[in-house]
Amino acid sequence: MEIISLSCKETEMIGKKLAGNLSGTEVIALFGNLGAGKTSLVRGIALGLNSEDDVTSPTFSIVNEYMGKYPIYHFDMYRINTYEDLYSTGYFDYLDNGILIIEWSENIEAILPEDAIKIFIRYGKGESERILRFEGIDEI
Ligand SMILES: Nc1ncnc2c1ncn2[C@@H]1O[C@H](COP(=O)(O)OP(=O)(O)OP(=O)(O)O)[C@@H](O)[C@H]1O
Ligand SMILES: [Mg+2]
Repeated sequence: MEIISLSCKETEMIGKKLAGNLSGTEVIALFGNLGAGKTSLVRGIALGLNSEDDVTSPTFSIVNEYMGKYPIYHFDMYRINTYEDLYSTGYFDYLDNGILIIEWSENIEAILPEDAIKIFIRYGKGESERILRFEGIDEI
């Protein structure tokens, strides 16, 4: 399934809609380059889960936690290269205890759970078009 977004707000709305179909322990793996809109999508998911917390790229902290309808653990795996790195983020402790949303999933693709929802975001035409491709979920 692919969805085209024409603005940052639209990407947030897609996240918000997706949030309505979550049950609380999903792993949502985001793929896409700098500025693709990964954090915008996470912001929408958090809004859709009624979180009032500020959503920002957890670049230096590696993981941000937001409280909404379910706990949300927002990872940035940009600097994670080894299993040891990953282990030290607490990733394995967070699994099954909330919704994990992972920016730069490219770096941990091999250890993603079988049933992870994968979202690939790529640039489209012009500055604001983005194409979001979903795997592991039939509709949002
Ligand atoms: N259709 C769109 N969807 C999302 N963001 C868009 C869109 N069009 C333009 N933008 C802009 O692209 C940028 C996306 O930033 P965002 O932080 O969400 O990306 P990111 O993928 O998380 O980047 P990073 O890898 O640096 O964390 C914002 O400046 C946003 O305004
Ligand atoms: Mg980001």
